[in-house]
Amino acid sequence: MSNQKSSGDFFVIKALEDGVNVIGLTRGTDTRFHHSEKLDTGEVMIAQFTEHTSAVKVRGKAVIQTSHGEMNTEAE
Ligand code: TRP
Repeated sequence: MSNQKSSGDFFVIKALEDGVNVIGLTRGTDTRFHHSEKLDTGEVMIAQFTEHTSAVKVRGKAVIQTSHGEMNTEAE
């Protein structure tokens, strides 16, 4: 790993509708939202897990690519 403050592969989130939320959750004993990024249709976010972020929640219709594979969030 070239940077100690981030860990591992990037993951990609591509919005399939307007208003998709990518929510970063804090690392450590206190698990809370610390960042919410809003993506509109076709917008892409490329991110890593970091010393601050240990989990990510995606709300809305999107394609998510990780080293574990590609998945779609369910349409409502
Ligand atoms: N400042 C945040 C951090 O370094 C930025 C971030 C990285 C982020 N990965 C994320 C925000 C995933 C939301 C989702 O941890």
